[in-house]
Amino acid sequence: MADPNAHRLWIQEALNLQLAEPDVRTLGQRLYDALRGGIQQGRLPPGSALPSSRQLATELGIGRNTVLSAVDRLVAEGFLVSRPGAGVFIADWQRGPQTPLDVPSSTPVTLSRRGERLLDFTAPPSARHAVFAPGVPALDRFPRERWQRLLRRHQQRAPIDWFDYRNEGGVKALREALCDYLRLSRSVRCRPEQVLITQGAQQGFELIARLLADVGDDVWLEEPGYGGAQACFAAAGLSLQPVPVDDEGLNVASLPPETPSPKLIYVTPSHQYPSGATLSLARRTALLGLAQQHGAWIIEDDYDSEFRYTSAPIASLQGLMDNAPVIYVGTFSKVLYPGLRLGYLVLPPSLVTSFQRINARLHREGQYVTQAALADFIGEGHFARHVARMRQCYRARQATLRRALAPAVAHGLELSSGHAGMHLVAYLASHDLERELIRRGEQAGLRLSPLSDHYLQAPGRPGLVLGYAGAPEAEIERAGRWLGEHWLALTT
Ligand SMILES: Cc1ncc(COP(=O)(O)O)c(C=O)c1O
Repeated sequence: MADPNAHRLWIQEALNLQLAEPDVRTLGQRLYDALRGGIQQGRLPPGSALPSSRQLATELGIGRNTVLSAVDRLVAEGFLVSRPGAGVFIADWQRGPQTPLDVPSSTPVTLSRRGERLLDFTAPPSARHAVFAPGVPALDRFPRERWQRLLRRHQQRAPIDWFDYRNEGGVKALREALCDYLRLSRSVRCRPEQVLITQGAQQGFELIARLLADVGDDVWLEEPGYGGAQACFAAAGLSLQPVPVDDEGLNVASLPPETPSPKLIYVTPSHQYPSGATLSLARRTALLGLAQQHGAWIIEDDYDSEFRYTSAPIASLQGLMDNAPVIYVGTFSKVLYPGLRLGYLVLPPSLVTSFQRINARLHREGQYVTQAALADFIGEGHFARHVARMRQCYRARQATLRRALAPAVAHGLELSSGHAGMHLVAYLASHDLERELIRRGEQAGLRLSPLSDHYLQAPGRPGLVLGYAGAPEAEIERAGRWLGEHWLALTT
């Protein structure tokens, strides 16, 4: 064999180059992937010696334990052999007893084209960054003990058939309680039979997309808009048509006349996500007329309408007329907590049976104990009290954020109105500024959400979506000051 040191140097150099590239994998995983790739592609021939773990750790600037665990894994999988006293060598792995077929593959799998596209709507997993996380409620303020008591109560009382497969749309008491609440506070026209309990708004969008549109059909979506809805419609193979949003919300009149008819129109009329606009009455009636004319269904996503600070909650679009072509989508993710995974659809009577049957087939029904506890939570007034408290809490948290950003606002930072909801939008003058603030935020341990990501059509308007509901005021104040100072440093 040629000079064994040549391989050692090559390995060090190649690994160094690969680890220098930015990547989301852990260092240990990257080292493992790089070594295994080199072995499988024949660049590290059988018999050649690996540099010692100490040498590798020093050369690559990573911990020795990281090196050892990658090496141990490759030894266990048969790609390396360890000869005590002599070192670690590349195994003759293709001939050895452990062929690669025996070991779980860690090379990236090929996703479908749909899967690849869906990745565009996701962010890499990360630790919790509550300070500016959009849409995260005050988890620390949820009345856990009361909730636990209600859960225990229903756990003990649950009839045996709640443990079985069900297909009735959810616990009757919850559907009744919801109907009373929606009729009163949201002017929704409904009977309990029209309510289908889902595992959150997301499942509702999924069902609607699959049951009411075919692959290639057009769905009109607000631009900018909610990534969760965009992802659902893309997953169902629909053609996504962005519709611009202005101060009066969705502006269908701005679409060119030759735009193909939609099957579905997705809107957040009470509080447009993320801009915060309210769909004006004139636009509401026009939209209902347009949907009727095209034979399209409107999806009304009423995700956070309870949190309105300057007036009473705005009545729903669904309740504006009899037999409106609207499916009302609600969620408990904002008013209670997202991990609860409970939401609901209010369906026109003609769709109830099909949705109920297909939902039970595709997703199954469940969480009956939790649903019953929630029915009591609403029925006994805890829900209304919690919403009222959170409204106050979010109003105060928003005021804190505004105060912290006041010096920047005095120098021209533009903020959205914040008359409702759980986030503000800070509009920025350029994409470079958006990128730079996000980069600095990452370094400071602050995850900032770019407004431009909410657009289907690049490049989108630059800005930041600043959730203020999920963190205590002291943290919001600190983060707000940080942001204001960095904005000032970069712009003035
Ligand atoms: C616009 C909008 N709709 C709905 C939801 C809630 O979705 P889910 O009920 O699936 O948690 C969110 C949450 O972030 C949202 O921002």
